[in-house]
Amino acid sequence: VSALAAADMLHVAGRPPARLRVARPVDVLAAGSHHPLVCAMSTDTGPAGLWVVKPPVVLSVGSSYGAFSVVAELAGAEVCVWAGLGSPAVGLTTFPPALDDAMERAIQALEPATQKEVADIFRVNAGRIAFCCRYLEPAVDLLPAAIARLPQHRSRLEADAVALGVADAFMLHTDREAENPNAVWFDSRIVAIDHNLAFAPLARAGSTGAALAANVIPTRAPFLRHVAAEIMRDHVKEPALWDAPVARLEGVPDAAILELVSRWPVDLDAEPSRGITGIRRTIQDFLLRRRAFVRETVDNLRAILASTP
Ligand SMILES: Nc1ncnc2c1ncn2[C@@H]1O[C@H](COP(=O)(O)OP(=O)(O)O)[C@@H](O)[C@H]1O
Ligand SMILES: [Mg+2]
Repeated sequence: VSALAAADMLHVAGRPPARLRVARPVDVLAAGSHHPLVCAMSTDTGPAGLWVVKPPVVLSVGSSYGAFSVVAELAGAEVCVWAGLGSPAVGLTTFPPALDDAMERAIQALEPATQKEVADIFRVNAGRIAFCCRYLEPAVDLLPAAIARLPQHRSRLEADAVALGVADAFMLHTDREAENPNAVWFDSRIVAIDHNLAFAPLARAGSTGAALAANVIPTRAPFLRHVAAEIMRDHVKEPALWDAPVARLEGVPDAAILELVSRWPVDLDAEPSRGITGIRRTIQDFLLRRRAFVRETVDNLRAILASTP
């Protein structure tokens, strides 16, 4: 990938989600629990390449918070970029009411088992808005062991690994464990994917964002199993490394948060199947207030990491 092409694949803070249409489904990504699709997408101006499409209604074993998860992905990508990490370019699409001929033909070209799953996904998601992110084809899952094999990238990796832990602590995200890193190594940096479960305590509580924003105690066990836990622990006593992403999150202006939220479609404001309402306001209140608590939260994360060998 050329540097220019690679940059195009990643999200830029403040950039609105691309408005996409499914041209044809290409594959199902069955590694995780929600089985997102890979689809060739188009915009009003023409073909837009391959994107991961994450259906809000999930048929596999995984559960989804529906519209809340779509918003969590959009907000999660923004938080990662604010913290200094990469995250794939973001988009939104509305599942078509029915499959057209080109989609039918594309599905028939897939493996038999995949054909049925794809058709089912389109059926149960018809009319629903889905989160999309650029498919980073050459990306490899980030594994703790891989880091030792990349000595030439060590300083970048260390900064990114710490930023990943800081971003996850900020957004109450506990789904980036070594077993299932939800982070890839792409274009010589850590790129965070799958923010489906970011902010999840807000969905569960169905409560106000402001109350959870003041929670400064990261959940211990998942952070000890975090894909970046080892690197974070190695550098737990280097304040400058931690201060960089913390200061970036503290410095996010109100206007950036308000503009981000203003772009989320009104259809994403509620998930009736889960009894969740006021999603945009909840996340907005959370983001606005969370900035004041990120430093204390990260100090506590460092204490948790330092307390175990
Ligand atoms: N944008 C992407 N580029 C490359 N691979 C991806 C991308 N998004 C997801 N994947 C791959 O697909 C897997 C499942 O996607 P993910 O978004 O993690 O969904 P879930 O874990 O909810 O099923 C990931 O673990 C990763 O291997
Ligand atoms: Mg995943």
